[in-house]
Amino acid sequence: MSTTSMHGMWSSRLAFIFAATGSAVGLGNIWRFPYTAGEYGGGAFVLIYLLCVAAIGIPIMVAEVMLGRRGRQSPINTMRALAARQGAHPAWQLLGWIGILAGFLILSFYSVIAGWTLAYVLRAGSGQFLGIDGPGSEAIFAALKAAPGQLFAWHTLFMVLVVLIVARGVASGLERAVRILMPALFVLLVIMVLYAAQAGDFGAGFAYLFTPDFSALSANPGEAILNAMGQAFFSLSLGMGAIMIYGSYLSSQASIGTNVAIIAGMDTLVAVLAGLAIFPIVFANGLAPSKGPGLIFVTLPVAFGQMPFGALFGAAFFLLLAFAAWTSAISLLEPMVAYLVENKGFGRVRASLLAGGAVWLLGIACLLSLNAWSGFTLFGKGILDLFDYLTANVLLPLGGLLIAIFAGWILDEQVSRSELGASHGAWLYRLWRVLIRWVAPLCVILVFLNKSGLI
Ligand code: PFF
Repeated sequence: MSTTSMHGMWSSRLAFIFAATGSAVGLGNIWRFPYTAGEYGGGAFVLIYLLCVAAIGIPIMVAEVMLGRRGRQSPINTMRALAARQGAHPAWQLLGWIGILAGFLILSFYSVIAGWTLAYVLRAGSGQFLGIDGPGSEAIFAALKAAPGQLFAWHTLFMVLVVLIVARGVASGLERAVRILMPALFVLLVIMVLYAAQAGDFGAGFAYLFTPDFSALSANPGEAILNAMGQAFFSLSLGMGAIMIYGSYLSSQASIGTNVAIIAGMDTLVAVLAGLAIFPIVFANGLAPSKGPGLIFVTLPVAFGQMPFGALFGAAFFLLLAFAAWTSAISLLEPMVAYLVENKGFGRVRASLLAGGAVWLLGIACLLSLNAWSGFTLFGKGILDLFDYLTANVLLPLGGLLIAIFAGWILDEQVSRSELGASHGAWLYRLWRVLIRWVAPLCVILVFLNKSGLI
């Protein structure tokens, strides 16, 4: 069994934590979490989300890192090799392919949203938000969505930045930048929460997020639960091999459980902080929490427009958000690139250009769905919304389900025990075993069955 990956290794355990946290913390926490929570009425959704992180997300993250480290290749080849070693069916590599498809679809729309944040750096920095009110902010956002040329330019710039890093190799290049900019984003988010506490309606925002009002779910509880679970997968970067491939660059000595606890903890903290920064401003300015994907792009400019040094804070905030999106996007492209390098013999540069170019093309369809193609819908959704819904709520949980079944039922217990058991008390390992064999897969299956109307 190999102890290193041909694509390189993290220089330290800390480098892995930074990179995996960089993957997890992104638009999912600051853009997607607040708007999804807002669409499903707040507190009850947040509670279900937190339960999903604890009972499904964390055990699956442990499994992904473990499988990646065991396989030391791209997810497709890792699954093929591990299945062969267990004498299991080669069809397990399908898991890797589902991940490639999910990564492809996610990155195509993720890059468009990251483009919005880049566009907002300029808008904030040039003082466009000064003294703005809710309707004024909505008008600026609507104008951006209606301008395909601008969306195209920002989407293209973002994809170029992603390809640039992936082409150089994730283990080099990424590390230094993440170390400085992630803490900076965190500090800025805390400042935003403090501002919201002082200038916004903090009581209302806090209550909205943390008072579980299950009647808010009653219109469609199955849909709300599916979305909370999907958000957990999306936010923790699970179910598509991103964390698996990052695990494949992790040294055999590092403790998987401790690392995962830190990564999942930071991810959850950032999501909660984002909620605490946004909802007090939503309520103080008479905006609706159920605005959908535009929520932070309409809400935060109102706050930046009122606060001292708002132009500076606003530009810095959107810049750091774009950076967080960048470190996530890199992990979305990496499994595809690693596969092309391993199986097609491409160099990293060629592989990154090819995979990134294909994603970029599909991203154009996503950005056009906001304007020129807005009349074209499938299942009542435009392309961008459809990709967002389909990946988070179907493909990632499906990938996660397969990972749980493989790690819990197919892989020799001896293997998982030696990967996980050594550094922790036996009870923690046993808890993980129960969660990965029973709780996580059954929860995903029940949510799927309920959604498809079978139960
Ligand atoms: N976790 C990222 C976020 O919250 O923005 C998005 C993401 C990255 C999802 C990588 C899936 C993934 F594999």
